[in-house]
Amino acid sequence: MNSSTSFHVPEGLDISKLPKHIAIIMDGNGRWAEKRLMNRIRGHEAGAETVRAIVRTCREIGIPILTLFAFSTENWQRPKIEVATLMVLLKKFIDSEQNEMIENNIRLNAIGQLEKLPKDVRISLKRTMDLTGKNKGMLLNLALSYGGRAEIVDMVKVLAGKAIDGKMDPHSITPEIVADHLYTAGMPDPDLLIRTSGEMRISNFLLWQIAYTEIFITDTLWPDFGRDEFLSILIDFQNRERRFGNVV
Ligand code: IPE
Ligand code: IPE
Ligand code: MG
Repeated sequence: MNSSTSFHVPEGLDISKLPKHIAIIMDGNGRWAEKRLMNRIRGHEAGAETVRAIVRTCREIGIPILTLFAFSTENWQRPKIEVATLMVLLKKFIDSEQNEMIENNIRLNAIGQLEKLPKDVRISLKRTMDLTGKNKGMLLNLALSYGGRAEIVDMVKVLAGKAIDGKMDPHSITPEIVADHLYTAGMPDPDLLIRTSGEMRISNFLLWQIAYTEIFITDTLWPDFGRDEFLSILIDFQNRERRFGNVV
């Protein structure tokens, strides 16, 4: 995508009422490959193409924040060869997308236990995050080695440390203070969470942040997911009634 690309607003989509933050559990790469009698790795490669398409679409229509669940704390338990290849693909993705992110004013950020990532991935990530750090067009947030429970534990450790040091009165802790100590500090909660490939679960993603997020689960496997289905989910989202516990 660049500024000269024309964008036709799909019928039914209200461009003035888009979600400010979309989170996606990109699931189903392995099943996509297994269905084709291919190695699971081929599914992850195909999945990377979907990531490109969805990032472009979000930038084009003006979604301010996109958070993608790319690798969970639990995914470290997968066979060594799959983990190692996923890390190679991750580095390849960051390096190959760097210029497009710069050109399209996209800021890259990562959330999770980043210290657990291999050194070359951390270096690529830091370089691209530094190079795109001032971009304001869109925030692309990659959840890497991310676990919602680990995030909450990290937050508790920081707040407990502040309390012990006398820097914070435990009785003054509010939901806002908790949110300010999560990896997503400063970001609004997701308005919409999409999970591909049909599993009806959260798998330890953004546990605190999705308290009032609208959830959409599609059976489509992540490598088969694309712009048209994504836009139709946005239209579905716009037709939902969000009540936040109140009455209408
Ligand atoms: C999602 O696809 C990608 C990661 C979790 C890294 P999966 O690899 O979980 O694919 P399935 O769920 O086995 O089909
Ligand atoms: C969730 O998918 C994590 C990512 C998409 C990165 P999983 O495939 O790891 O989740 P489960 O095992 O089906 O719960
Ligand atoms: Mg899966």
